[in-house]
Amino acid sequence: MDAVLTREEAPARHGDVRLRKLEVCLRSITALADDINAFEFVSADGQPLPGFTAGSHIDVHLSGRMVRQYSLCNSPIERDRYVVAVLRDRQGRGGSMAMHDELRAGQKLKISRPRNHFALSTSARRHVFIAGGIGITPIVAMISEVQRRGESFHLYYCARSAQRAAFLDELQPLVERGDVSVHFDQGDPRNGLDLVSTLKEYLPGTHLYYCGPGRLMDAIEAASAHWPPAARHCERFSAGAATRSRPNDIPDGDGDEDAPFDVELRRSHKTFTVHPGESIVDVLRSHGVDVDTSCREGYCGTCMTRYLAGEPLHRDTVLDDEDREAFVMICCSRAKSQTLVLDI
Ligand code: FES
Repeated sequence: MDAVLTREEAPARHGDVRLRKLEVCLRSITALADDINAFEFVSADGQPLPGFTAGSHIDVHLSGRMVRQYSLCNSPIERDRYVVAVLRDRQGRGGSMAMHDELRAGQKLKISRPRNHFALSTSARRHVFIAGGIGITPIVAMISEVQRRGESFHLYYCARSAQRAAFLDELQPLVERGDVSVHFDQGDPRNGLDLVSTLKEYLPGTHLYYCGPGRLMDAIEAASAHWPPAARHCERFSAGAATRSRPNDIPDGDGDEDAPFDVELRRSHKTFTVHPGESIVDVLRSHGVDVDTSCREGYCGTCMTRYLAGEPLHRDTVLDDEDREAFVMICCSRAKSQTLVLDI
């Protein structure tokens, strides 16, 4: 009987590089603001890193099997490094604390290839960005790209204070040019950006991108509800609000959520039944099958798995229609068919 392949081995055999992990070296750690550090990764073997597009993120594999997603904040034209900026979140699930407290320059780590669920529109006539706090990280890469393309944009950058806002120095020339406005609320949202008036007028051809804490995201979502869904793009730190701003964020609507189904692992010749209330991940782990997860709510992409037959009941909020032809998020999705065959 075949052994269950690890994620690193599997794509090599099946030709899908998107799931293959990369070994990188942490070249430097730089303080950007209070409790925010930048972590710069370079290839461990000296080869150029896979290219990425603005808005991409990577999974960082930390101690204790923690996997966390961080947006790339350097320019997408750079091929020799990936840079992420991480806020130390004492109330979080431990990933940011591990990044801040355990990582040291020179250390080797495993990361995923960059994935992008927050891409820039290629047809926009103007881009409007709203960043809240550490939500600036994907947006600085996007700003770099729209500047390179010579496209029109404006960034509204909301933070508690200058001390807690990363990238202020880099953005200062754009502030002086009028392309960036910065809003410090000193911890009181009533002092913050007036979202209703900022988003009141929708000009055709304008695309809105936003990233930040859940309450800000929900407020932006409400204030831009009259904008076309295809013109709104967001990246959340959590599953968040009940409504979604991108067409691809709409989970499958049909299918019996609770129907049991079989999950067949084609390469390991095993079949298990997923009962109501269980996830595919739960069932695989209970039978000793090792799978990576992070959010377990269908928004991070860590558990993305190729399927070979059957019809998934997609419950994630990240895969687009094309990806859904080949991949399924096994932390949250189920199956419409009696059997779902996975490439594991
Ligand atoms: S673990 Fe995040 S999408 Fe499945």
